[in-house]
Formats: sequence, structure tokens, C-alpha cells
Amino acid sequence: MNPLNLTSPPRYDRLTMSLHWLTALLVIGMFASAQIWERLAKGTPLRKELQALHISCGILLAVLVVGRLFWRLTHGRRLPAANSGVMNLAAKTAHWALYALLLSQIVLGFLFRWAQAEPFNFFGLFDVPTLLTFDKSMKSVFGGLHEQVAWAIVILAGLHAVMALVHHYGLRDDTLRRMLPGRGSN
Ligand code: HEM
Ligand code: HEM
Repeated sequence: MNPLNLTSPPRYDRLTMSLHWLTALLVIGMFASAQIWERLAKGTPLRKELQALHISCGILLAVLVVGRLFWRLTHGRRLPAANSGVMNLAAKTAHWALYALLLSQIVLGFLFRWAQAEPFNFFGLFDVPTLLTFDKSMKSVFGGLHEQVAWAIVILAGLHAVMALVHHYGLRDDTLRRMLPGRGSN
């Protein structure tokens, strides 16, 4: 029997789960949107719409990631480590690296848009105020960094997802199940 079932509440709380899966969905969608618009000719309406959608989702992601970190550090349910020894250290490092990369990407996204000096709004509902102004040359600096961090997030999150599946199908433990809704989640 898996010791996780004996020593801990079986699942993360609902808010932790919701924030985790919403973050994952947004990150994948935002990466995909950029891959699609990069294949479209400059100036086409679809390209501009995808960029506007990416930026609005970016603002939403910023709120989710900050909220998620606040919740995790204050009220979020803590569960015992799913691994031990070196694997535990690797998992913890990967999780904190993902948070650090997401925060860096959010900051770079905002800086990139301000450097572009183009419309910056949330689904057309309100404009994001320009807090910083930059020389036009900074556009390519922030853009280049934003793209590199995007790849780092996608690769690390991909490895992270593979490890979750290894726990589920290979080691047959509760690691993935406790991040999924189900009976006994609260
Ligand atoms: C993890 C989340 C994110 C991923 C994976 C991601 C990925 C990307 C990628 C791959 C590009 C294309 C880069 C290039 O061609 O130079 C891009 C462009 C962009 N991203 Fe993000 N991004 C994320 C979050 C954000 C956030 C939070 C914002 C802030 C609002 C943002 C704002 C932008 C802007 C303004 C562009 C340029 C759009 C244009 O060319 O008009 N991104 N993003
Ligand atoms: C872009 C996508 C993703 C991001 C950014 C992400 C990020 C994270 C982070 C930062 C944590 C640590 C939670 C904490 O302790 O505060 C976590 C936990 C977790 N993630 Fe993801 N994740 C993503 C996708 C996935 C996918 C696709 C799966 C499953 C196939 C998954 C399964 C899990 C599981 C099972 C945990 C809990 C691990 C544990 O209890 O030790 N994640 N995720």
C-alpha cells in the first residue's frame, strides 16, 4: 500500500489544483499561439488578434501565478514529498525553477510590450498603464529573452509532466492523483 494514503490528506486543496491546471492550460495555449502567429504574414488580422489574445492571457497569467504563490505560502495544503533523496531535491528544484521562470517571463512580457509601445489592454476592457518607457532598441533584447525563457519553461514543464506520468504509470503511486479532483479531495 502507498504510505501517502496513510500519512496525509489524499489530495491538494481545490484552489491549488485549479490554479495549477489553469496555469498549465494558459502556458501551453500562450506558447502555441506564438508558434501559430509566427507562421502568419506580418500585419494580418489573425496575427494581430492572436497577439492581443496572448497579451490578455499574459495579464491573467500574472494574476494567477502571483495568487498561486501567495496561496501556496499561506493557506495552501502541504503534502509530504512524493520522492525521497536526490529525486526529492530534483523535484523541489524543478518546481521552484518553474515558479522563477514563470515570474521572469511575466516581467519580460510586460517590459516587451512597453518597449513595443503598442496597445496594451486586457480583452479590450481596460488599458494597462505604461509604467516604464524604453528606447526602441530594447524591443529585440526583451523579445529575445522572452523567447528563450518560453522555451526553458516549455522544456522544463514537459519533463515535469513526463515525471508525473512516470509516477502514475511506472511507480503506480498517488503523486498525479493528488493533483487531480476526485472523491475525498477535501
Ligand atoms: C509562460 C508564459 C508565456 C509564454 C510561453 C510566452 C511565449 C511567447 C513567445 C514564444 C513569443 C514570441 C517571441 C518572439 O517572437 O520574439 C511571445 C511574444 C510576446 N509575448 Fe509572451 N509568453 C508568455 C507570457 C507572456 C506575458 C505574461 C506577457 C505579458 C503581457 C507576454 C507578452 C508578449 C508580447 C507583448 C509578445 C510580442 C507580441 C508581438 O509581437 O506583438 N507574454 N510570447
Ligand atoms: C506548463 C505546464 C505546467 C506548469 C507550469 C506546472 C507547474 C507546477 C509547479 C510549479 C508545481 C509545484 C507545486 C508546488 O509545490 O507549489 C507543480 C506540481 C505538480 N504538477 Fe505541474 N505544471 C505543469 C503541467 C503539469 C502536467 C501536464 C502534469 C501532469 C501530467 C503536472 C502534474 C503535476 C503534479 C502531479 C504536481 C504535484 C507534485 C507533487 O505533489 O510533488 N503538471 N506543477
